Amino acid sequence: MPQLIVTTAKGETHVLEAESGITAMMAIRDAGLEGLLALCGGVCSCATCHVHVDPASQSLLDEMSEDENELLDGSLRRNEHSRLSCQILITPARDGLRLTIADED
Ligand code: FES
Repeated sequence: MPQLIVTTAKGETHVLEAESGITAMMAIRDAGLEGLLALCGGVCSCATCHVHVDPASQSLLDEMSEDENELLDGSLRRNEHSRLSCQILITPARDGLRLTIADED
């Protein structure tokens, strides 16, 4: 199973075993980590699943969609590494992906 390495907003790092085919948001939520509200349940309409992707992991991800980009524009915490974790599909090729849960706006 691919591993997902997640740092919480408090700075605690967790290594999650994430099933291929689910999203990073689901893996983080299922692990019960703090700080990821994911209020819309993963339909790309709330931006409360905001994460920052480790620069070394950026190349593992596809370009973001226009919808994701627009939603992130509403966040004060957006930076060049921002993504919505509900839009990141876990695949074997993304084994070792490193994310940090963004602080709430
Ligand atoms: S869970 Fe709402 S946008 Fe990701």
